[in-house]
Amino acid sequence: MSNAVYLIFGATGDLARRKLFPAFYALYRERKLGDRFAVIGLARRPRTNEQFREDLYESIQEFARYNVTKDEQWSSFAEHFEYMSLDINNIEGFRQLSELTGTLDAKFEIGGNRLYYLALAPELFGSVSHNLQAGGMLEAGGWHRLVIEKPFGYDLPSAEKLNAEIRQVFDESDIYRIDHYLGKEMVQNINVVRFANAFFEPLWNHKYISNIQITLSETVGVEDRGGYYDRSGALRDMGQNHMLQMLAVMAMEPPSRMHPEDIRDEKVKVFRSLRGFQSAAEVRANTVRGQYISGTMKGKPVPGYREEESVNPESTTETYFAARVFVDNFRWAGVPFYIRTGKRLPVKTTEVVVEFKNVPNNVYLSRKHKLEPNLLVFRVNPMEGIYFKMNAKQPGSEGAIIPVAMDFCQSCQVGLNTPEAYERLLYDAARGDSTYFTRWDEVALAWKYVDKIASAWGERTEDLHLYGAGTWGPERGSQLLAEDGFRWWPVNGQDEGEVAWEFTQV
Ligand code: BG6
Repeated sequence: MSNAVYLIFGATGDLARRKLFPAFYALYRERKLGDRFAVIGLARRPRTNEQFREDLYESIQEFARYNVTKDEQWSSFAEHFEYMSLDINNIEGFRQLSELTGTLDAKFEIGGNRLYYLALAPELFGSVSHNLQAGGMLEAGGWHRLVIEKPFGYDLPSAEKLNAEIRQVFDESDIYRIDHYLGKEMVQNINVVRFANAFFEPLWNHKYISNIQITLSETVGVEDRGGYYDRSGALRDMGQNHMLQMLAVMAMEPPSRMHPEDIRDEKVKVFRSLRGFQSAAEVRANTVRGQYISGTMKGKPVPGYREEESVNPESTTETYFAARVFVDNFRWAGVPFYIRTGKRLPVKTTEVVVEFKNVPNNVYLSRKHKLEPNLLVFRVNPMEGIYFKMNAKQPGSEGAIIPVAMDFCQSCQVGLNTPEAYERLLYDAARGDSTYFTRWDEVALAWKYVDKIASAWGERTEDLHLYGAGTWGPERGSQLLAEDGFRWWPVNGQDEGEVAWEFTQV
């Protein structure tokens, strides 16, 4: 990892506390961060360095993968962290920041590299970028990279405006737009499994695959983010970014080189091939939106969405979104990709199920038995692994056929402690590897697709389906598949009655 001063804007916020500080600590413990770095926490509220380091300690204690104690190792880590209270509209503050950065750069022999991490509301990205420049921050001799969080805009026009503001200061190659799903170990593994195994490629197309199902389900409600979420909804919060990115990773062609731009070019081709909607009626026929009402989760009553804090009591914002998506190219002609996400669903899980076409109807075995289709499942979260479901003879029987599973459970391996997405992404941004960050053309095309859906939904409320908290969302979500003769496969565990064969790492 390169030497750098990391400037964390929004250092007293939730993201910094839950994800960024623990990520720094894990990278430090794994010796990926080295010793030539400094982190400056920036936020408006006054805080001493001591208080800041105390917050840092608590966040690491609560959220990091490694245990922490206040020993010598802690002191040598913590001395790299300083805090400065900053009003981001005040250029004078940026000049002082520039001085502080220079002092820390000299102290830790950093050599001018700067990583600006904006864990802030996107409305502020433009003015922070501008003031970084006006305050002289960008004059230091090394590289200057901007890392920004989603949401990147609210729709295409607002994203374009935001992008134009940032681009006045930073080149596209220095902008690292985070989609933290791309930092997840198993999402990255999808491409390895697809492209490093000879037997997938010949099957990976419309001839052998009947449909692909992508589920990103959550048990949480909107927690304390009601204000943001009520303006955003599931389509913008999860659909525009994480869901379409996962779809692109599943659908993309093998890149000519494992180079960030080549990989991102392939994803862009997928986005360009998404079948756009021609009318509001088409949107309604292919998408589902739902909102949770009160229900029970793990035996406890939970309130409905409209009762949540900072949510409009008459809100029509969707907390569930499902869609049938087509990628109109040679590989995927006619294969539906079903995507769904929702809050207050029964389990927290991220899974991709590839359903293969069944064996022909009239061959001997399929005439005699009701054969289940083969499934390949990528388990991203909370279990990590890959499992493949196939049919086999039931041992000892006269010819009964049962589904069996070959199960590679990565997260079951003793001692395995998978890095968090943010560790990987911080590490990559500091190394200048943008593979797992989204490029502007991807973001723009994803907005274009999503905007069509949002505008067709518009103010109409008839098609907002209510679902009880703790259920799998509105019935319409299942109908979408039933119309094509499919069903959602169970997620987060094996089908009942399956016999598992374990795969161990060799
Ligand atoms: C965020 C969304 O991008 O992803 C949240 O804004 C959501 O609403 C979260 O809860 C889910 O991420 P993960 O990694 O917990 O699946």
